[in-house]
Amino acid sequence: MYDTSELTLEEKASLTSGGGFWTTASVGRAGVPSITVADGPHGVRLQAGEADHLAIAESLPATCFPPAVALGSSWDPDLAERVGAALGTEASAMGVSVLLGPGVNIKRSPLCGRNFEYLAEDPVVSGALGAALVRGIQSKGVGASLKHFAANNQETDRLRVSSDVDPRTLREIYLRAFERVVKDAAPWTVMASYNRINGVYASENRWLLTEVLREEWGFDGLVMSDWGAVSDRVGGVRAGLDLEMPASGGRTDARIVQAIRDGLLGEDELDAVTRRVLDLVERATAADRPSAPGIDQEAHHALAREAAARSIVLLKNDEGLLPLRRDADVAVIGEFARTPRFQGGGSSQVNPTKIDAPLDAIRAAAAGKVSFAPGFTLDGSADDARLRDEAVAAAAYAEVVVLFLGLPVTEESEGFDRTHLNLPAVQLELVDAVRAVNPRTVVVLSNGGVVVLPFAEDVAAIVEGWLLGQAGGSAVADVLYGSVNPSGRLAETIPWRLEDSPSFGNFPGELQHVRYGEGMFVGYRGYDARDSSVAYPFGHGLSYTTFSHDDLRVVAAGNGDLEVTVNVTNTGSVAGREVVQVYTSLRHSIVQRPPRELKGFALASLEPGETRAVTVTVRRRDLAYWDVRVDRWVLEPGTYRIEVGASSRDIRLSTDVDLAGERVEVELSLESGSDEILADPIAGPLFLEALVEHGMATDDQALRVLGMFPIGRMDGFPLPHDTAVELIARYRAAKNAGAPTPTPA
Ligand code: GLC
Repeated sequence: MYDTSELTLEEKASLTSGGGFWTTASVGRAGVPSITVADGPHGVRLQAGEADHLAIAESLPATCFPPAVALGSSWDPDLAERVGAALGTEASAMGVSVLLGPGVNIKRSPLCGRNFEYLAEDPVVSGALGAALVRGIQSKGVGASLKHFAANNQETDRLRVSSDVDPRTLREIYLRAFERVVKDAAPWTVMASYNRINGVYASENRWLLTEVLREEWGFDGLVMSDWGAVSDRVGGVRAGLDLEMPASGGRTDARIVQAIRDGLLGEDELDAVTRRVLDLVERATAADRPSAPGIDQEAHHALAREAAARSIVLLKNDEGLLPLRRDADVAVIGEFARTPRFQGGGSSQVNPTKIDAPLDAIRAAAAGKVSFAPGFTLDGSADDARLRDEAVAAAAYAEVVVLFLGLPVTEESEGFDRTHLNLPAVQLELVDAVRAVNPRTVVVLSNGGVVVLPFAEDVAAIVEGWLLGQAGGSAVADVLYGSVNPSGRLAETIPWRLEDSPSFGNFPGELQHVRYGEGMFVGYRGYDARDSSVAYPFGHGLSYTTFSHDDLRVVAAGNGDLEVTVNVTNTGSVAGREVVQVYTSLRHSIVQRPPRELKGFALASLEPGETRAVTVTVRRRDLAYWDVRVDRWVLEPGTYRIEVGASSRDIRLSTDVDLAGERVEVELSLESGSDEILADPIAGPLFLEALVEHGMATDDQALRVLGMFPIGRMDGFPLPHDTAVELIARYRAAKNAGAPTPTPA
C-alpha cells in the first residue's frame, strides 16, 4: 500500500523513530498514518494525557489481568490464549495497534525486581505460555511485542549492563523462549532489550536482530527498541532495528540522513527498515478488527478471576485444612486482605476497572463469623506491637486464621532489583505470634518475586497467591472455600535461602558487566545439579484431590518428535486438574547437562475416579544441545531417560529411549587431544601402535594421565612430532579413501 520509493530520504528516516511517546510517525504527504502502541503485558496502559514509561502519569481504565508471574503458574496455554484475546479486544477498542508484551525473559535470579512480569525460570513454560498470549492478542487484529530481546534478566543498570553469557547457555536457555514464540506464534513485533549481550547493545546487535531472529528463525515482523534504549541509531539500522522508541525529536533521523549522505550507510539499508515500519502500519490499519468493539468489562473481570484462581499455587495443606468449611469462624489477618497488592510497579501498571479485596470476598463466601485485624501497616506508620496484639487476640478466638502476608510495592518493581528474599520483619514476627495461639493458620502470599518461607514448617497451609490482578481477591476466596480446586504449579523454585540460588554471587554483577556464571544451571537445573534442598521445587503445586500416573509409553513420531503418553487417574473425591510434566536427561553426554530438563507438559481436567491417557509431545529439536564447535543444534546419540513428574522433584514414572542422533565429527589434527584421537576408529589404533613403539604404557591409568594432551606437542613424552604428523597423514588418507568428510573443527 505504501511504497518507500515515493518517500524522500528525510521522510523515510522520520519513520524509523517514534512520532511521539506512544505513536509511530506519520507522513501526511504520502498518506501514511501513525499508529499507537501501549503497554502490556497484563492489561492496557494507555495514557491519554502526560506520557511516561513508568506509569507515573495516569492511564485509562482497563482490566488488570493476572501478571505473568501468576499466569505462568497456571501452566495453561489455552487459558493464556483466552486472556490474550481479551487483552487484544481491549487494546483494539482503545485504538491501540500493538500491545507491548508478553515478556518472556527467564527468571535467572529471584532478586530480579521485574520477575513479576515474566513467566518462568524455564524456557519451555515461558515459550509455550508466551506463544499462547501472542496468539490470543493477535487474534483480535492487534500486534504483540515479544520482549525484552534478549538476556534482560535484571533491573540493575539495565540500560548499560552487558549480560555476559556463553553461546550454549544463550541458545538453550535465554533465547529459547523467544525462538519458540517467534516460530509458534509469529508476533508482529519484537522489542529489543536495553542491555548489551556480550558487550553489544541489543538495539545494535546484528547477530541477534538479523542473523538469529530473521535469518535463522524466520521472523518477518518489526523490531522496536525499548524506550530510550538506542545509543547508536545508525548502527541500529545496520543491525536491523526498525523503530526507535520513543520519538527522538528528529535528532537520530538526521543522523541517518547524514550517514547516507556521507556514504556510511546504504539507502537500501534504510529502505529495508522503513519497509518494515510501513508493513506494520499497513497490518495495523488493515487489521480485521470488530467494528467499534465494546469491552464487556464484567466478562473480562470474570475471566481475570478465573485466570487468577487457576494461577494460585497451593504449596502446603496439612490435615486437609483447606478448603475451609463455610460455617467456620475465621480471623482474617493482614493489611493485604483489605488493601490487596495485585500487580507490579513500573510500565506494566494498569488502572483497573475494579478491585476485589480478599476480605470482602471472604465475607461474601463465608457463612460463619469473619473477624479482621490488619496486623501490620504497609508503610510501617503504626504501632506494630499494638497491631500484632490485636491480631493475636483475633486469632486466638477463631477456628481458623487466614493470614495475608506479602511484599510491599516498595520492595520490588521494574527499575530496581531486590537485595534479599525476606518478607518484612514485622510480618515474620506476626506469623510467629499468630501460629503460636492458633496452629490452624493458613498463610496467603502476595508477592511478585519469590520470598523465602522460614515459617513453612510451622503453619498448616500456605497459598502462593503471587500478584493476581484486579479479581485476585475473589480468586483467593474461590480457592480457600473450594469453589475452585487449585491447579497452579510453581514456574520458579522457592529456595530456603538466597545463597542457594544458582546465580548467587553472579547477580547483579558490577562495573556494567554481569557474568552468567551458572551457565545452563539456572533455576531448578542448578538446584538439582547441586542436589540442594529447596522449600518448594519447580513444578510443585497441591490439589484438593490426588492423581496417580500409570502405563508410561513413548512412541517416536515420524518427524522425530517423541509422543510421551501416561494414564492419569483422579484418585480423590473432587474434580481437579493435573499438570503432567515430562522431563528428560542424558547420562554420559559429551556436554554438561542438568539432571533433568522440562521438555513438555499437558493439563488434564479429571472427575473423581476418571482415568485419561495424556500425551505430551517432546519436540526432537528440544532434545538437541547447541554444539559450539559447529554452531548449531545437534541431537546427541544415546539413551535418554524420559520422566513423568507431578513436579521436578516428584517423578512418578520413567523409561529409557535410545535415539540415534548425530555424532559431530571433528577433523582430527595435531591439536587434537589424545582422548579424541583414541576415540576415533581410524586414528585410535594408529595412536596406540605409535605409543607402544615409543615405549609408552597404554593401560587405562596411563592413558587417563595422558589426558587430552595435543598429540602434536608430545615430543618429550616421548612421541616425536614427526610420528604425530605421519599419524594424522595416515588418518586423513584413510578417511579420504572412504570415510565421510568430518566437519572442520
Ligand atoms: C519500559 C519497559 C518496557 C515497556 C517500555 C514502554 O522501560 O522496559 O517493557 O514496554 O518501557 O513503557
